[in-house]
Amino acid sequence: MNQSTQQDLRQILGKFLTGVTVVTTIDQHDVPVGFTANSFTSVSLDPPLILVCLAQSAGLASVFRRATSFAINILSVDQEVISNGFARKDADRFAQVAWQQKVTGSPVIEGCAAWLDCEMYEKIIAGDHVILIGKILDAEKMALYPLGYYQGRYCAIDLPEETLSLLERRKSVHSTTGILVDHDDQLLFIEQSDGRFDVPRAEPGGEGDESRINAAMTKLGIEVHNKVLFSVVEGRHHQRISIYYRCNVEPGEPLPSTAKYFKMEALPIDQLARPDLAHVLKRYLEEKNSGQFGIYVGDEHQGHIEQIAERKI
Ligand SMILES: Cc1cc2nc3c(=O)[nH]c(=O)nc-3n(C[C@H](O)[C@H](O)[C@H](O)COP(=O)(O)O)c2cc1C
Repeated sequence: MNQSTQQDLRQILGKFLTGVTVVTTIDQHDVPVGFTANSFTSVSLDPPLILVCLAQSAGLASVFRRATSFAINILSVDQEVISNGFARKDADRFAQVAWQQKVTGSPVIEGCAAWLDCEMYEKIIAGDHVILIGKILDAEKMALYPLGYYQGRYCAIDLPEETLSLLERRKSVHSTTGILVDHDDQLLFIEQSDGRFDVPRAEPGGEGDESRINAAMTKLGIEVHNKVLFSVVEGRHHQRISIYYRCNVEPGEPLPSTAKYFKMEALPIDQLARPDLAHVLKRYLEEKNSGQFGIYVGDEHQGHIEQIAERKI
């Protein structure tokens, strides 16, 4: 096949919309390694098998040929930076991510939409790639939308255009990002100088919501997990947009003196620093009770809820 037909083929194959994964393992020196791959697909349910194709020319090809296990990290919509990082040559790929080892010892990256921990089932050389077939030993999905990939570009399949444009527009108007931190049926609030309470807030600007939330929570000395968009509230006259995320925190984190957890049935509704917060908290309580969270899009009085499933396997 000549160069131009190869290029045509790339474009034709690029019409197939995929997600993006990072395939990880531990090398013979116990060092975590991984690469970005969109050639992931499911193969069989019984036994539970998946596959991913790795270029034989890749720097990590010899490591994966020797590996006895690997993990597939299905990236979430905010993890474009991670995808690029794990496709870059010679980068210290794990420097930028939080990860932990699962049952096979393969690294699982925090904030993925889902992960699958696999033992190596079979390796098949196919042309210039090796097909790695993994048998799934453990897996989990999070309530996060996946990152998409189409014609050589990232894409989001997460929210309707209307919501995405509202999210985009907040960069040009006054906006604020509130964080609902749920710990053991309690929500975290920060006492303001006037004695009223607000939820933690991320600073405006910066590198996307995930890193802004992480930065805000690190300032409080708290590590949060499972960050999920909860609402996009437009203020009157379209001058202001408030975003809220919900997330969880591990027990036992020490808190700064201004931070305080309130039980769900005793939230400081009458002492809130911001009027839009009451609406957000009321919905949080309702949806938490129902066990099904969605994403509210609208203003303080009127809007609709985008429903997404939230369940772990
Ligand atoms: C979105 C995306 C998908 C990719 N999919 C694959 C893939 O399925 N298989 C593969 O071998 N490389 C794939 N790559 C390229 C590898 O991630 C990249 O070439 C590799 O990590 C380079 O590492 P090396 O320095 O180890 O050769 C993909 C890259 C990107 C950005």
